[in-house]
Amino acid sequence: MTSTLESAALQARHSRQIKLYGSEDFAAMRRAGQLVAECLDALAPIVQPGLPTQAIDDFVLDFALARNAIPATVNYKGYTKATCTSINHVVCHGIPGEKPLREGDIVNIDVTFIVDGWHGDSSRMYAVGEVKRAAQRLLDVTWEAMMRGIAEVKPGNTTGHIGYAIQNFAEAERCSVVRDFCGHGVGRLFHDAPNILHYGSRGEGVPLRPGMIFTVEPMINLGRPQVKILSDGWTAVTRDRSLSAQFEHTVGVTETGVEIFTLSPQGRHRPPYQA
Ligand code: MF3
Ligand code: CO
Ligand code: CO
Repeated sequence: MTSTLESAALQARHSRQIKLYGSEDFAAMRRAGQLVAECLDALAPIVQPGLPTQAIDDFVLDFALARNAIPATVNYKGYTKATCTSINHVVCHGIPGEKPLREGDIVNIDVTFIVDGWHGDSSRMYAVGEVKRAAQRLLDVTWEAMMRGIAEVKPGNTTGHIGYAIQNFAEAERCSVVRDFCGHGVGRLFHDAPNILHYGSRGEGVPLRPGMIFTVEPMINLGRPQVKILSDGWTAVTRDRSLSAQFEHTVGVTETGVEIFTLSPQGRHRPPYQA
């Protein structure tokens, strides 16, 4: 996702023209999105207690390279990994490493593949073994918040309709919406205009038009919304150390509504995936 803290980059993106894509472009995004979704599906059985997040990253890199895809995060602004793996109170941009996952953890795995020059960007939460009821509730609220946001994607609505639906639902569930990162236009570029805020009011922001392509990727906390960045320069954590969750889809605006490019072919929409 995009950091709203990077004001120079944000300004540049803000003034950038919002691209409208045609049916061939949608077909290309479908191919990129489906490969990411297949990879996220394949991760479900291997995300288990004891697995280091670096092993997840190795799996995703191999998965991509075996299929002529490139993980977009490698060498992106100095990032070196094929994934972001964000555990428990990590909000986003967790860096894979040798520390093993533990029973009860919740982890977001965020994958972006470049396929024939087009970016598919998606993330899901995974439950490591049995998780506490509060953690499972956060996963359910976050997935539902994303889907309610996506349900607002249609011509006639604005980006504010998406943010409103997410914020309204999450806060009614006594959770909070992270403000420091947002969704983004995506296509041949990884991060493009428009910014998709996960909070706001209906009618605010940019009017949605057929052919727009962007991500919806809300980060929802059990506690307060504030985040801080650790000294590695990437890892964002909740200031109050409360649990945080995120799901992400890449979507396109159609004449009548929305197409989700990164839907799970195996129906592994939200954990527990074995059920
Ligand atoms: N995939 C993230 C997103 O949803 C971006 C990660 S950039 C990285 O936009 F450099 F942190 F990997
Ligand atoms: Co994204
Ligand atoms: Co992503």
